[in-house]
Amino acid sequence: MISSHSMIRPGHFKLGLFSPNCSGGMAITSVDERWQATWENNLELGILADNLGLEFLLPIARWAGYGGKTDFQGDSLETITWATGLLSKTNRINIFATAHSAFFHPLVAAKQFATMTQIGKGRFGLNVVCGWNKPEYDMFGIQLSDSHDERYEYGKSWFSLIKKAWEEKVPFSWDDKYFKVQDAVCSPGLYGDTLPPVMSAGSSPQGQKFAAENCDFLFTVLLDLESGKQIVKNVKDIGRCVYNRNIDLFTTTYVVCRPTMKEARDYHHYYASENADSEAVDRLMSLMGMHAHSFPRDQIDSLKLHFAAGHGVYPLVGDPDFICGEIEKIAASGFSGASLAFVDYLAELPFFGDEVLPRLVAKGIRLKT
Ligand SMILES: Cc1cc2nc3c(=O)[nH]c(=O)nc-3n(C[C@H](O)[C@H](O)[C@H](O)COP(=O)(O)O)c2cc1C
Repeated sequence: MISSHSMIRPGHFKLGLFSPNCSGGMAITSVDERWQATWENNLELGILADNLGLEFLLPIARWAGYGGKTDFQGDSLETITWATGLLSKTNRINIFATAHSAFFHPLVAAKQFATMTQIGKGRFGLNVVCGWNKPEYDMFGIQLSDSHDERYEYGKSWFSLIKKAWEEKVPFSWDDKYFKVQDAVCSPGLYGDTLPPVMSAGSSPQGQKFAAENCDFLFTVLLDLESGKQIVKNVKDIGRCVYNRNIDLFTTTYVVCRPTMKEARDYHHYYASENADSEAVDRLMSLMGMHAHSFPRDQIDSLKLHFAAGHGVYPLVGDPDFICGEIEKIAASGFSGASLAFVDYLAELPFFGDEVLPRLVAKGIRLKT
């Protein structure tokens, strides 16, 4: 089975939107213009991103909000149904579903994803998440293993069974530590018999190894450019040397792009400092500190402002030249793409499209779409 899709385009830095399916998006703020994750807003945004030539839309898989004044991410459109709706209404853009390996039986997931490749004619992408958020696992009555090794071992079995269901043309059986299936089929299979782009989101060594072995992309946090460069090198080395395969890395950013640096910084201060939803910030950070290895523990306190501003991810705050320069540095660190998030995606994306995208093409970081 082949793997070929527009997420792989050498010499072209891929861009997409992350988290518009969740209320607040990535910004933990109480400002009036904070993101409302309605279907109407998502549809309009998806069509806008498609017309701008962005490569992907990526949802956060969230099952319960983080409380606080705004109940950050309390409204979230379920990602498989969200992606299916958007695939039917767009033309070029890749649309990912983010799926918790623990919450969908692999044969159900294989069939849902195969159907999505049919609807999107090959534009569906899968983002696998292997779990960290204990209250959500409790909500399902599912035990979240304390062991990272176990979570990713389960994820590997889950994804291998999905691939088997896509590949097999005759009924098959499967029996391992996690799944037993009998006379399984998945028909119709993948559109064009082509594997979708698959990414995995994580930062731990186990998460990196899982992606290097099983996925096309690792979607991971970037704390600074120097360590980012090292992560790209390490993960690509693991892919090449251990599994004899290529893997690309994507990272995640939040954007405040304004005509001047001062305007961008002032707005950043306004929404993330003066109007932070501190209770939700504290809840998210304590959950991540207890259950995730995505951020080094000792740095968590100093990340509070970044969490309010954009869930702790890499900031792109400035005028179009500055933001273009920052994206150039991320690309130079070896990343193949990045996700973007805005306080109000619909209001802010057009300015980014008008001012930053052409600058990236002029610099040769993105090719003409
Ligand atoms: C960039 C990025 C995006 C993520 N997206 C989600 C998500 O949508 N839903 C979720 O529950 N976890 C998400 N996670 C959490 C990871 O899937 C993973 O469970 C978590 O990072 C803990 O694993 P790790 O210690 O290997 O990083 C994301 C993590 C990263 C780094």
